[in-house]
Amino acid sequence: SNAELVDPFGRRITYLRLSVTDRCDFRCTYCMSENMVFAPREQILSLEELYDVADAFIGLGVKRIRITGGEPLVRRGLLGLLEHLGARPELEDLAMTTNGSQLPFMVGDLRAAGVRRLNISLDSLRPERFAAFTRRDKLDQVLAGIEAARAAGFARLKLNSVIQKGRNDDEVLELVEFAVARGLDISFIEEMPLGGISSHRRSETLCSSDEVRRRIEERFTLVRSSHVSGGPSRYWQVVGSQTQVGFISPHSHNFCGACNRVRVTAEGKLVLCLGHEGALDLKTLMRTHPGDSERLRQALVDALQLKPERHHFEADAQVQVVRFMSMTGG
Ligand code: GTP
Ligand code: 5AD
Ligand code: SF4
Repeated sequence: SNAELVDPFGRRITYLRLSVTDRCDFRCTYCMSENMVFAPREQILSLEELYDVADAFIGLGVKRIRITGGEPLVRRGLLGLLEHLGARPELEDLAMTTNGSQLPFMVGDLRAAGVRRLNISLDSLRPERFAAFTRRDKLDQVLAGIEAARAAGFARLKLNSVIQKGRNDDEVLELVEFAVARGLDISFIEEMPLGGISSHRRSETLCSSDEVRRRIEERFTLVRSSHVSGGPSRYWQVVGSQTQVGFISPHSHNFCGACNRVRVTAEGKLVLCLGHEGALDLKTLMRTHPGDSERLRQALVDALQLKPERHHFEADAQVQVVRFMSMTGG
């Protein structure tokens, strides 16, 4: 069939962010609360349900899938899912976002399964600061993971840094130098108000992308890159290097006009926009009608009619989404 996922604003959905677990071996302060409670196992999609969801989206024209968490590499059976997806010829891109801690042990299997691109979170190169961000003292393990990934031959490796005033905004140049020296891309992210975290007041640590870019331009020349992902990032090339610098600026720049994506949470909720609470419960649908792929397809097509036009993170600092980032991996 030639059904496609198109929303009321004419945006074609060709990209799925699929969360495979809400659990994580880190507790990043912008993502989780101190005493995070995870979903009981039976509330998490089984591997078979993950296959069914992914297949339904691929049947509806999705060409790129990014696996997220929590931390995807702590999900048991993940490699089976990746092999299943890696063998689907319709998929042009299979990517994953990870905290990097398990990469030293798993990176070969990920490549073999067909993962093409990895994004690895790295907020600081200083062990004490890294531990303050993640509440875990594992910088060395993540750096080893980055090296293992470089050696494994991915099409693209990108670092993700959430920049906060007074915490790591003075490290921007060092992070760019780290990326340039290794031929990696790097994205700088303005923190988004998801989940009732308690460790800091987000409005007080917000650091705008414009400010981050000014700091980078103290040492590097950036030229706007034509690379468009359909995602939130605006990319710049570091002149004289392989490195692209991305800025994800929900507070200072709305990027929703070209949005190409939806997400499915670890609990099987279809989230049409990261900045809204609205979600469709695919898990209950699949458990009520097991094996009914036609019903699942139709539910996805119908749900697209509810995709909001845009998030409102920038218009109103009070916007607060209850769902924690760890449910969707962004
Ligand atoms: P590609 O588009 O696949 O290259 O990935 P990405 O860089 O967008 O994904 P990644 O998982 O590395 O996420 C980086 C940051 O972008 C995270 O903070 C995500 O929450 C954020 N992000 C990704 N997609 C969206 C989106 O549609 N809306 C918003 N507001 N943020 C997003
Ligand atoms: N705002 C912005 N980015 C976030 N991430 C986690 N929580 C937030 C937040 N509240 C980032 C992580 C990771 C990516 C998936 O999302 O740093 O790189
Ligand atoms: Fe884990 Fe990523 Fe959330 Fe950090 S941001 S706690 S690494 S899921």
